[in-house]
Amino acid sequence: MGKADMRPIMFGIVTCSDTRELTEDDAGFALERKIADAGWTCASHVIVKDDVDRIAEAIVEAADGHGVDVVLTCGGSGLSPRDVTPEATRKVCDREVPGIAEGMRAHSLQITPFAMLSRAVCMQRGTCIVINLPGSTKAATENWEAVEGVLPHAVSMMAREGH
Ligand code: MTE
Repeated sequence: MGKADMRPIMFGIVTCSDTRELTEDDAGFALERKIADAGWTCASHVIVKDDVDRIAEAIVEAADGHGVDVVLTCGGSGLSPRDVTPEATRKVCDREVPGIAEGMRAHSLQITPFAMLSRAVCMQRGTCIVINLPGSTKAATENWEAVEGVLPHAVSMMAREGH
């Protein structure tokens, strides 16, 4: 599908990190560039600490406050005790879209066995889709490449436009 055929999609980025400031969010800015390269828009980009309630609030703010179609979280989906992004996502979303997380892991497993360490989920909050991406620039970009192509169809289906 050519870019001209795609409906414009609006994104929010929520980076989850105890250590980084927004200006140091290289992975988040790499995602912003990928979004722009695809001809889409990034309406909000924030960084929050690895805390379930802070992450959940940021997802709600992007989805409901900014009305974005897609929230990309970045980081906090691994196995360390401070990795709580999937839990925050579950807290504020209703329906799981397992195929997107499975697709990201299947794609990533061709690159690194460490993809098995991802607990990422993908879920819907109403007509917004929330996708957990890993936190390193390389990993976030690789996972973006796995999902980018299905987003126009996902967004149009959520808007009840069907197939
Ligand atoms: N996926 C890809 N494509 N490339 C990677 O380097 N790293 C993995 C995994 N997925 C990786 C990847 C690792 S090491 C972890 S711990 C998980 O993503 C979760 O990353 P996060 O804790 O930064 O969210």
